[in-house]
Amino acid sequence: NPSITTLKILIIGESGVGKSSLMLRFVDDSFDPEQPATIGVDFRVTSMVVDGNRVKLAIWDTAGQERFRTLTPSYYRGGQGVICVYDVTNRSTFEHLDHWMTEVDTYSTKDDAVKMIVGNKIDLPNRVVSREEGMKFAKRHRALFIEASAKTKEGVQCAFEELIQKIIQT
Ligand code: GTP
Ligand code: MG
Repeated sequence: NPSITTLKILIIGESGVGKSSLMLRFVDDSFDPEQPATIGVDFRVTSMVVDGNRVKLAIWDTAGQERFRTLTPSYYRGGQGVICVYDVTNRSTFEHLDHWMTEVDTYSTKDDAVKMIVGNKIDLPNRVVSREEGMKFAKRHRALFIEASAKTKEGVQCAFEELIQKIIQT
């Protein structure tokens, strides 16, 4: 769709799963092992080339901690892509994905918003959520799926590329 100017991408999920880390790895190619918890909303603008077209992205990164969250409906408004992150070493963050998918369905103003599930922190040795479980969940919610590590970069570029490609095709 050549009329697209800027795509709005949201990142959601429990506190500590690595939402900000994934965004900062993608936008700045940086990683902070002591990344502070997000308060309210963080916001970055970047661009990438997909299928030979330059696409501008506005990436919104919200606080996972309920007490730091504000403005939920306006956060979701107009979002064309939603990245829902869990931590493969923390089962409760995976179990809370249902809650986050419900929130997307409640507040998203685009019925055709493209969803992607990202299992993060695959660099760590103490994984407790298998790749198959993640894939199954994503399939059930008609979402794309990828495993990643904001620390080692694995899967990060690929996650954004697949999401943007799907949005452009939709
Ligand atoms: P909130 O802002 O509170 O919602 O958390 P968040 O989802 O933004 O998590 P954040 O990016 O702040 O990361 C939490 C912690 O996990 C930080 O100490 C990060 O350095 C660490 N972390 C993030 N991604 C990875 C990863 O892929 N591997 C490892 N080993 N640590 C990571
Ligand atoms: Mg954060």
